Amino acid sequence: MTEQVKLVESGKESTFPVLSGTVGPKVIDVRQLYAKTGHFTYDPGFTSTASCDSAITYIDGDEGVLLHRGYSIDELAVESDFMEVCYLLLYGELPNAKQKVEFERSVTYHTMLHEQIATFYRGFRRDAHPMAIMCGVVGALSAFYHDSIDINDERQRMIASFRLIAKMPTIAAMAYKYSVGQPFQYPQNNLSYAENFLQMTFGVPCEPYKADPVIVRAMDRIFILHADHEQNASTSTVRLAGSSGANPFACIAAGIACLWGPAHGGANEAALNMLKEIGTPDRIPEYVRRAKDKDDPFRLMGFGHRVYKNYDPRAKVMQQTCHEVLDKLNKRDEPLLQVAMELEHIALNDSYFIEKKLYPNVDFYSGIILQAIGFPTTMFTALFALARTVGWVAQWNEMIADPSQKIGRPRQLYTGQPYRKFVPVDQR
Ligand code: ACO
Repeated sequence: MTEQVKLVESGKESTFPVLSGTVGPKVIDVRQLYAKTGHFTYDPGFTSTASCDSAITYIDGDEGVLLHRGYSIDELAVESDFMEVCYLLLYGELPNAKQKVEFERSVTYHTMLHEQIATFYRGFRRDAHPMAIMCGVVGALSAFYHDSIDINDERQRMIASFRLIAKMPTIAAMAYKYSVGQPFQYPQNNLSYAENFLQMTFGVPCEPYKADPVIVRAMDRIFILHADHEQNASTSTVRLAGSSGANPFACIAAGIACLWGPAHGGANEAALNMLKEIGTPDRIPEYVRRAKDKDDPFRLMGFGHRVYKNYDPRAKVMQQTCHEVLDKLNKRDEPLLQVAMELEHIALNDSYFIEKKLYPNVDFYSGIILQAIGFPTTMFTALFALARTVGWVAQWNEMIADPSQKIGRPRQLYTGQPYRKFVPVDQR
């Protein structure tokens, strides 16, 4: 028999089923709550609310575990590559050798953009933030690829998904090129996903570009570490936008807008700016003091997470990658790395951070790596959006294919005026 919970309110009893997933907390199915009791639940920020069923990503925040389709992020980051992880997120299984080749080929052959899109860029100011450009250009894709916007056609959904995964590096690299006044670089089909992105970002037409394999691997790993993260704010935004039947390009543009905020994807940019502001290890105690002061809005960027109350498993891999990249680039003595390592050490031994279970998150070290590779800070969140696109499209596909899917429509606790009679202007 299904487990039930009983709710007693003013002497009236109602029961609600308890649902179990494969792992993780059980959920109380409150879909009949309003019908049975006339009440809503109240959970701003969704701290205790499961918004959907999903078989894509599992997080155990207390243990610091992150699984994609059952595979641990630590293993995927070391043993796999980003294309394989994309396939896994989209289709549920790792590809065999033939499937892998076919998948990579399909993604590669979608990397070019409609030539008319270049004119979009020219409408932006040169100093536009790349995320502002990404929101606009990705939303505009729906005006260019009319053959992949019927969300009820599974094939069209997949074509749109491939297009988004494939074109995002081209779009992000073009945003960078536009900001520095260099010509756009076309994608090269003989390069891997990560190397192609580096080529489109740092290559110039006047000389051949060859990326260092250590940097290519680091880039690929950064993409893997950001590929999906369950029902985070931007993914929930994509799902909510998609629940109305909106086209995929518009939904992903909504996800990009949400990701931009400093509490979410914008944290990598904010974390690096913070490390620069601290500057030297002797100034760390002052910043830690500020972070603990309730009257000071300052927070240690790159620290804390809604779900992880343990070390973010992605941060561990990111830290290791950071050392590899700085070694390779002979930047071992990079002052920002010294500040980051010392800050991490001090915060992890401070009672405030211990009690509140605040650990470094994925963004703490990523900025140092990206800066060392040569990206300006404004590109950091654009890179995150590029990598998260596969997670967004996998989650969006899962939602559209779910027959029980409904338009997302939360309710509220109304705290405004009850009915009052309209007063004509001459009587106010
Ligand atoms: N520095 C100092 N104190 C912090 C920090 C921090 N980085 N993060 C949380 N706290 C404190 C809060 O002040 C709060 O204290 P209180 O209980 O005394 O009021 C307590 O810890 C809980 O914090 P909340 O903000 O309530 O936790 P929530 O789950 O809502 O927020 C968040 C999580 C937004 C990530 C938060 O930790 C934060 O702002 N971190 C800095 C920004 C950041 O790094 N974001 C990236 C997240 S990862 C990602 O998006 C990929």
